[in-house]
Amino acid sequence: MPTVEIDGRRIEVPDGETVIQAAERLDIEIPHYCWHPGLPIAGNCRMCLVDIEKSPKLQIACNTRVADGMVVHTTSEKTKVAQRAVLEFLLINHPIDCPVCDQAGECKLQEYYMDYDRQRSRIPLPEKVHKKKAKPIGPLVILDQERCILCSRCVRFVDEVTHTSELAFYQRGDHVELDLAPGKTLDNPYSANVIDICPVGALTSRDFRFRARVWYLERTESVCGACANGCNIQIYHREGTIYRFQPRENDAVNQYWMCDAGRMSYRDLQGEGRLLQPLVRGADEFVPAMWESALGAVAARLREGGAGIVVSAQASNEEVYLLRRIAAAVSARVAGISRSPPGAFHDDFLVKADKNPNTQGLRLQGLAPGGAVDEMLSAADLRTLVLHRADLASWRGAGAALERVPYLVVLDTDLRETAEYANVVLPIGTYAESDGTFTNHAGRVQRFRPAVKAPGAARPGWEVLGALLVALGVETRFGSAEAVFAALAAECPPFSGLGYEALGTQGGPAAAG
Ligand code: SF4
Ligand code: SF4
Ligand code: FES
Repeated sequence: MPTVEIDGRRIEVPDGETVIQAAERLDIEIPHYCWHPGLPIAGNCRMCLVDIEKSPKLQIACNTRVADGMVVHTTSEKTKVAQRAVLEFLLINHPIDCPVCDQAGECKLQEYYMDYDRQRSRIPLPEKVHKKKAKPIGPLVILDQERCILCSRCVRFVDEVTHTSELAFYQRGDHVELDLAPGKTLDNPYSANVIDICPVGALTSRDFRFRARVWYLERTESVCGACANGCNIQIYHREGTIYRFQPRENDAVNQYWMCDAGRMSYRDLQGEGRLLQPLVRGADEFVPAMWESALGAVAARLREGGAGIVVSAQASNEEVYLLRRIAAAVSARVAGISRSPPGAFHDDFLVKADKNPNTQGLRLQGLAPGGAVDEMLSAADLRTLVLHRADLASWRGAGAALERVPYLVVLDTDLRETAEYANVVLPIGTYAESDGTFTNHAGRVQRFRPAVKAPGAARPGWEVLGALLVALGVETRFGSAEAVFAALAAECPPFSGLGYEALGTQGGPAAAG
């Protein structure tokens, strides 16, 4: 393993590592545009030039491998002159767009100008080369050619990651421009990742642009719930509204990427039909109820026996565990269900056909989705049915069967068809409104955290189920989702040894179950 000295600090790095990677290990920032850890090296922007002793010329840090004994200076006068020169060069034809550019706040051109340049332009404004502005190039992406610094990150992404090659450079000299390949639009299942990797405001999101300035948004680490892959994400939100999802690096799951369907699924979490308060059926229609009385009514009914519980793979591990505890307390049958639209899109990269985040979590707790739900619905002695995040009426046309159920309790985020048959409807939060964990298709247990508050009187699912356990007279009181997970880990071998702290931001594998 070679040892390198960077700005007076020494570090041993694996063979083949580049100077930019070695510097990152030391938390030394080397400015860069074209280098991205998830893409092949291009070495075209020259922003990462560094001073290497014994080398007659500056070298690019992104494509120079560390050699044993190498001594690198990233802040020497020679380096600073080069950084200023590269920035001046990149800005020659850049438009004066910053006040109206949606990349502001996360633009590497703005940031590096302030950190490494700060000189007045020597180019008269009228002499700048003009190119196309605000050109939609796909359903999610809009291109501003003038702002492009030709780093080729987006081109390498569509060539090397999606293998769809919708983007390329055309023309020559300072008239070079990024554009769509003839006859193509940027419409592949991962197209919006180019927005994240474009270091400037050349590729922006048609969905997000001009809706919020990023410096006003907060970020919460989470996991996408739109399929069984469990891509790691950041939820960007402000004052109770979610504005966008972006991928978060996790080498074991999604590297740096996420699919477009998952990215846009943030909208499903804040639809018009959210349930805002517990509802109890009166003589004819639903009457709003207080939590205590609604839960009291459900508990009284469950205690009478003949109960069945259906939990979908949309539920967290914690919710599944609590439902199992409730089932044990009242000797109810419990069954898991995992529903995906027939022929749902999937590929051999990230997207899974299973559109549920926690089918594997159900399996590991012994509730593998199967025929148990039909058996339960047709059982002659079924007196009370609890459906947890399971919209049986619209998924399976089970309306007639639900009509025969003497007492139906629905826990859900939104008012869906199944609720029409319910006696009690309990409003619960989405995964963006709660703490919890999902187990992805490969058995990796990953945490999600509350980004926003559940609307109205809705409460996180684990909280509602914990309160129902208390209403049933079960002694355990769970003060947090973490405590529920700890109880699960103590009882259920596949989760043993796991805890919120150990799962951290990257998750961890469940034991094979
Ligand atoms: S559009 Fe963005 S990512 Fe693509 S080459 Fe231009 S600057 Fe780079
Ligand atoms: S692949 Fe699945 S988990 Fe990943 S972003 Fe897409 S829908 Fe979400
Ligand atoms: S980051 Fe090294 S040349 Fe672009």
